[in-house]
Amino acid sequence: MPRSEALVFPRRERSEDRRKEAEQRKLLDEFFDHATLIAVSRLVNQGQFDSIDFPIATGKEGGVFRATRGNEYRAVKIYRISNTTFRHLPPYALEELRHQTSVRNFGGLIFGWTRREHTILGRLTDAGVRVPRPFAHLRNMLVMEFIGDERGAAPRLKDSVVDDPAGLYETLVHQIRAMVMNAHLVHGDLSPYNTLYWDQQVVLIDVAQAIDSAHPQALHLLERDVTNYARYLGKLGFEVDPGEFLRAVGADSIRPAGPTE
Ligand SMILES: Nc1ncnc2c1ncn2[C@@H]1O[C@H](COP(=O)(O)OP(=O)(O)O)[C@@H](O)[C@H]1O
Ligand SMILES: [Mg+2]
Repeated sequence: MPRSEALVFPRRERSEDRRKEAEQRKLLDEFFDHATLIAVSRLVNQGQFDSIDFPIATGKEGGVFRATRGNEYRAVKIYRISNTTFRHLPPYALEELRHQTSVRNFGGLIFGWTRREHTILGRLTDAGVRVPRPFAHLRNMLVMEFIGDERGAAPRLKDSVVDDPAGLYETLVHQIRAMVMNAHLVHGDLSPYNTLYWDQQVVLIDVAQAIDSAHPQALHLLERDVTNYARYLGKLGFEVDPGEFLRAVGADSIRPAGPTE
């Protein structure tokens, strides 16, 4: 078995840019501690990928990396294991994890969260919603379909040039409606940030906090999701009434929150 560290950023020696090398060293230290490197080599041994190539995006809660498997690519999301990772997460999404592990066990929570993202991506894929297909999860690592090509990862909708806002609205309605009506899920964190735009189609990402459409807060979250897109479409010159948008995605199938009779 190759030394596990050599599986991450293996093309390092080709990079002549010293600054880039220093950045990669910093990321290695930040994300790939001993336990994570062992998990990386386990995933390599399982045939999930051959190596982790470079970061696509890194943030406070984790990073997403491109990986290579034979002549194709995969994306690997790695959550940071720290007590700040969940500071911004909505309490409704943590409810079920709390039943599985102690809230003081950050590792356990994060592994549960990673598994949750994998499960939800699977449910959405099965329901025909365009999300990255999940391949595997291990500890704080999720392996999924890479959206993009050899030139790079797909841009976020926020950074994309949209020529056809009406067409964008149609594909958004189609995807969110499939999520609500077929998968019975509400994403809860949809925006032009958590949407990739590829071949004039949207790919919805970052799904770990999605909740069942029967949850009391589902309608409120769906309203927030479509309002984010309506605001963005408005900036593109395509005005859409959030109420109409909501009906189009199947909101009428969700029971409004309120006192139970
Ligand atoms: N499957 C993927 N293929 C290509 N790029 C991806 C993929 N998943 C995530 N990304 C990139 O990584 C970024 C962060 O991913 P995201 O799931 O939104 O994590 P975070 O929790 O950090 O917001 C995205 O904005 C996108 O640019
Ligand atoms: Mg995100």
